[in-house]
Amino acid sequence: MRNETDKATIKQVPSHVAIIMDGNGRWAQARGLERSQGHVEGVNTVRRITEVASEMGVRYLTLYAFSTENWNRPKEEVDALMHLIGIAIERETPDLIKNNVRLTMIGDVERMPSDALERLRGCIARTSHCTGLNLNLALSYSARWEIADAARRIASDAVAGKIDASAIDEATVSSYLTTAAMPDPDLLIRTGGDLRVSNFLLWQIAYAEIYVTPTYWPDFTKEAFREALAQFGCRERRFGLTGEQVRAI
Ligand code: IPE
Ligand code: IPE
Ligand code: MG
Repeated sequence: MRNETDKATIKQVPSHVAIIMDGNGRWAQARGLERSQGHVEGVNTVRRITEVASEMGVRYLTLYAFSTENWNRPKEEVDALMHLIGIAIERETPDLIKNNVRLTMIGDVERMPSDALERLRGCIARTSHCTGLNLNLALSYSARWEIADAARRIASDAVAGKIDASAIDEATVSSYLTTAAMPDPDLLIRTGGDLRVSNFLLWQIAYAEIYVTPTYWPDFTKEAFREALAQFGCRERRFGLTGEQVRAI
């Protein structure tokens, strides 16, 4: 018998899923562990969700791994996270290649320690030929940083005469964002239960469907991901039109 959340029974698989991976700290604290233990466990979830996203035919998976604001956390936690990112990328690269997953990253990554950054760049180079899932890590990322950065570059290209200021439109802005090569997310998932977007992809999520689960990221399972996709498949996306108009398309 077919499960309701099997790939074949889900009405519509989102092309781009973006996830705010939240709740690592609370997961650890609830167990009397250090917050960084929650991040260690969270890496296992990244692996699991990358696998299930591939299995389900998702094309782009953008994971919010570290925000611009997260730099303000206690130094020990930031250091532990940066160290963990470097180790995890090194360890996972062979499996990413085996599973045909291509790694990309978005964010103000120059702020990251050179060790972690080099490993990330190495993984990006070694998976650049992969044609399956695009795994896109948002690191040192915030949408306001991204939009300000795009505005700066648009202004400078206009001054240099490379673009016509009066012709700047939504497509121009999109093309200067870090996600220029990707479609906008169809589905935004947040784990950990908070009902906010925390400076993530503010421009790109204009019409994303939002799915929030109270489950902490380390406990987020493949089945829970499939459930989010199943719910997405049941939503009617109207993009400002009436329901009647959409159903007539
Ligand atoms: C999300 O988990 C991971 C990062 C922000 C790096 P948190 O560390 O924010 O966990 P909570 O929200 O405190 O539980
Ligand atoms: C959002 O989680 C950032 C990441 C998941 C990397 P936060 O834990 O930083 O968000 P707030 O502070 O609760 O809004
Ligand atoms: Mg949090």
